[in-house]
Amino acid sequence: MRGLVVLVTLTCFATAQHQALIDYLERRLLAIEDRISLWHEQTTRYASELRELKQQMVSQLENLDKEKEALRTNLDGVGTRVDRVERELDYLETQNGAQPCVDVDDKLIEQQVTLVQEKQKAKYSKLSDCSHMISNIKAMKILKRVGGPKGMWTKDMSKTSGKVYIFNGTDEDSVYEFATVQDFARSLGMSLSKSLKLPSSWKGTGHAVYDNHVYYINQVQDITVVKYDMKSSSITDSAVFPVQDHVPVYGLTPETVMDLAVDEEGLWAIYATRQNERHISLAKLDANSMDIEQVWDTNCPRENAEAAFVICGTLYVVYNTAQPGRSRIQCVFDVNDMVTNEDAPLIYFPKRYGAHSSLKYNPHEQLLYAWDDGYQILYKLVMKKKLEI
Ligand SMILES: *[C@@H]1O[C@H](CO)[C@@H](O)[C@H](O)[C@H]1NC(C)=O
Repeated sequence: MRGLVVLVTLTCFATAQHQALIDYLERRLLAIEDRISLWHEQTTRYASELRELKQQMVSQLENLDKEKEALRTNLDGVGTRVDRVERELDYLETQNGAQPCVDVDDKLIEQQVTLVQEKQKAKYSKLSDCSHMISNIKAMKILKRVGGPKGMWTKDMSKTSGKVYIFNGTDEDSVYEFATVQDFARSLGMSLSKSLKLPSSWKGTGHAVYDNHVYYINQVQDITVVKYDMKSSSITDSAVFPVQDHVPVYGLTPETVMDLAVDEEGLWAIYATRQNERHISLAKLDANSMDIEQVWDTNCPRENAEAAFVICGTLYVVYNTAQPGRSRIQCVFDVNDMVTNEDAPLIYFPKRYGAHSSLKYNPHEQLLYAWDDGYQILYKLVMKKKLEI
């Protein structure tokens, strides 16, 4: 009996011990589970915090990018302003005339010139009462940069039209037409323009637009001036320029065999022939019939010439100077013999990019429309009376 009691006690003891172990293990497991869930929670929290951090970083990086962009735009703006100030300074310098050492050349040129001038004293009957000449360049405005290094742009030079025409390059058959100068200035490239295809190709930069007519130079063998009516899209007239043995008129713009100019008196042709190879010749044309009214051999050399224009019957030829980025009116020829090279003002064009491939004078605005290495520039001129020298 006693032995049984001992056995039962032992068994109970063993069972109790077992139970305690199980309880212990359960507590441990619970504790481990607790901890795991804590870790899990923490990991999730870390993960979400990391995500938040990443998002913050991304948005900050974006902000930085934006700031960088703004900074760059600002810098660009500053660059442009510095550019403009430089141009203005340069222009002021032009105004105040740091005078160059070209005087020796001038004397030489003048000596040769008087000889030619003596031979060429035809009387020209003026068509208008204009009697002004350039006194200075008051301002310049760089309007745009479209197209290639060489080309021509001009307004329709009649008083009533405000349209602007772009002859890009030196050998094409289309021109771009803008309704106004403002349209041209704000157009993205040629986007606001109308492209006009001409009946044949044009050569060089010597064209003119007057009263809805394009006068363009076409050259196969002889030089032909084609007068094309843009309103009716038809050729009004076409005249072979009756001069043999042409040579390009400007030494520095060899693509231009002949240059047309409009002034207060009408239409002029600036050209050169092999007979008077070293100098530029000038002809007055009748804009309606395209007949040549009179011709002059001028004293102005072709060598180093970039472009020329006529104001009030006076031819002004612009030359490249020894100073880089500078060009200068260095020869004038007045069909009325009122302005000589000695009277001619010393006029520099402000700092430029390359060489002027064309300079077109508008008598109603007294502006020069210039094409300079793909830039379209306006020069505002100041005039004075021819006799007030
Ligand atoms: C202008 O002409 C140049 C070549 O001189 C050409 O490369 C360019 O595409 C032309 N641009 C337009 C707008 O016609």
